[in-house]
Amino acid sequence: MRINHFPTTVAAAHAVADRIAERLKAKPNLVLGLATGVTMEPVYERLVARHRAGEVSFAGASSFNLDEYVGLPPSDPRSYRATMDSQLFDLVDIDKTRTFVPDGLAADPAAFARRYEAMIREAGGIDLQLLGIGRNGHIGFNEPGADFAARTRVVDLEASTLEANSAFFGGATPPTQAMTMGIGTILDSREIIVLATGAVKRDAVRAALTGPITLDCPATALRNHPNVGWWLDAESGADVVG
Ligand code: GLP
Repeated sequence: MRINHFPTTVAAAHAVADRIAERLKAKPNLVLGLATGVTMEPVYERLVARHRAGEVSFAGASSFNLDEYVGLPPSDPRSYRATMDSQLFDLVDIDKTRTFVPDGLAADPAAFARRYEAMIREAGGIDLQLLGIGRNGHIGFNEPGADFAARTRVVDLEASTLEANSAFFGGATPPTQAMTMGIGTILDSREIIVLATGAVKRDAVRAALTGPITLDCPATALRNHPNVGWWLDAESGADVVG
């Protein structure tokens, strides 16, 4: 477990973007695991800027997103598919037919989830998984109590998560279920970068890095992984050394 401290949110996010760019340069057909959320916005902004400057290409890459709300069509701007398109995919040279996001409208979610897992395996597995962390320690949408071996599936969202994400829904309650990669799926990635910024993440970061490994804090599962880096700003990382 490596812990990288940065003075500001932007510095941490940009360093993560630069790490992704480095990995893409070393392996142009990189398989990325991607995340959404406020935390990731400056990461994608930096990647788009570096792409426009001719410094990074996604032409050979493919991507699998962590999660999607159940019931939101891709055309809904609040869906994670639409978010990824507008923040990254439509602004860089990635082949969009190789960008995958769980289907929030799948008629048979269990069958779709099995197919999603199979597609990740067929792509050779995820080389680099980008992760945020929820205020309650969730990763993807794996809420407290989720099995560390869980695979992609539909889950119920906690009230605190719905509240945190209501900002994206004009203050209204988001869909109460999501399809998410499981913690087991996430742990299969070869490298994991966790980006956590802001005082609102401080308790979750402390629990994830220094508390007991427990289902009550899903991010503690990452301590069982051999190649995880944490990228923190001054506010989120104030309680941890490294
Ligand atoms: C969200 C997403 C996660 C994200 C986390 C933090 O609900 N499902 O993938 O990493 O919670 O979100 P934010 O960056 O908006 O704080």
